[in-house]
Order: sequence, then C-alpha cells, then structure tokens
Amino acid sequence: MKKQLVFILLAFSLFSLVSVAADNEVATLRDQTKIEDQKKPEIIPKVINKDIKRKRNYPMQPPVIPHTIRNYEVNINNNKCMTCHGRQRTEESQAPMVSVTHFMNRDGNFLAEISPRRYFCNQCHVTQLDAKPLIENEFVDMHSLMKKRNSAEK
Ligand code: HEC
Ligand code: HEC
Repeated sequence: MKKQLVFILLAFSLFSLVSVAADNEVATLRDQTKIEDQKKPEIIPKVINKDIKRKRNYPMQPPVIPHTIRNYEVNINNNKCMTCHGRQRTEESQAPMVSVTHFMNRDGNFLAEISPRRYFCNQCHVTQLDAKPLIENEFVDMHSLMKKRNSAEK
C-alpha cells in the first residue's frame, strides 16, 4: 500500500513538472520564446535627442532628459551635467538651471552648492528611447481623470 502511494505521488509530480515546462508562459518579455531557443535580437533603439522638453505627467515628476547623455560622466571628480545645468553655467549653455530643490538639504535649508542628495542626476532623470513600449502602460494623468469626472457629473 505504501509503495503504491509513493508511486502515485511520483507520477503526479513528474506530470506537473512536464506541464509547467510545456506552458512556459511566465517570460512574456521573451515573446513566448522557448528557453532553449534564441530569439533574433531587436535593433538597439536610439536615444531621443530632439532637445524638446517633455510634458511632466505629475508635478513632482523629475523631467525626462531631452538630449543624449552619452559619455557624460558623473563621478567623484566630475559632474558633466552641472557644466551646463549649474547656476553659473546656464547663461552660456542656455540649459535650464537645476531646480532650487536640488540645493536643499534634508532639513530644508539651502546650500551654496548642489546637495549631495541630488548629485547623481541619473538616479532620477532618464533619457527616452525611440522604441515601442514592451508592455502596455495604462497611466492616466490627473487632469484627464478630473475632466472625465466633471463631464460625468454634468
Ligand atoms: C552641453 C550642455 C548640457 C549638458 C552637459 C547636459 N545638459 Fe541637460 N539640457 C541642456 C539643454 C540646453 C537643455 C534644454 C533642452 C535642450 O536643448 O535639450 C537640457 C535639458 C535637460 C532636462 C530637461 C529639463 C526640463 O525642464 O524638461 C533635463 C532633465 C536635463 N537636461 C538633464 C541633464 C542631465 C541629467 C545631464 C547629465 C547626465 C545633462 N542634462 C547634461 C544642456 C545640457
Ligand atoms: C532625487 C532625485 C533627483 C536627482 C538626484 C536630481 N534631480 Fe533634477 N529634478 C528632480 C525632480 C523631482 C524635479 C522636478 C521638481 C523640482 O523642481 O524639484 C527635478 C527638476 C530638474 C530640472 C528642471 C528644473 C526646472 O526648473 O525646470 C533640471 C534641469 C534638473 N532637475 C537637473 C538635474 C541635474 C543636472 C541633476 C544632477 C546634478 C539632478 N537634476 C539630480 C529630481 C532629481
């Protein structure tokens, strides 16, 4: 009796292993490509470099970067971004100055230089790629929501 039970359990677990491998539906970004297959790689998309500022999706959003940042170093010795976006540089570069919030320390006091909390620009600011989104984005901005609600109330 015990032997039979072990056999049934073994058969059942083998069966479920096989069916999991057959479904393989988790890896959606692989376009359902089987683990053992190699998909033809996509072309690497270009960074959008049009110098046109993008709308922000909500007031606190760090604006996306509208230019390429290839080879712009940000490390202990250099901050390439600040050579254009620093307060003393904007006349020459015509770049927008880093926001005044970037000079604040965590107690809300303004420092003379950019705060260490904002030194690594790419923590928050990113370039955009000229590519189709990998997955659908259903984000609806606040104003569209309010418009919808107001027209529903009328
Ligand atoms: C050579 C000068 C230069 C450098 C270096 C530079 N920028 Fe810019 N940046 C600009 C200019 C000019 C603009 C205004 C839009 C345009 O012309 O691209 C801009 C726009 C931006 C904006 C958009 C601001 C907004 O209100 O929409 C962000 C964010 C930004 N840059 C971040 C960065 C970051 C991060 C780096 C470093 C990785 C960097 N920039 C390096 C010149 C520069
Ligand atoms: C911790 C996140 C964070 C870091 C790090 C950061 N920023 Fe920002 N940045 C923001 C946010 C959020 C905003 C928009 C709200 C605001 O103005 O504070 C912004 C706004 C800006 C703007 C638009 C200013 C304006 O008035 O239109 C520029 C330009 C910018 N950042 C450049 C930079 C550069 C250059 C660096 C690196 C030296 C940097 N930021 C580091 C979050 C960040």
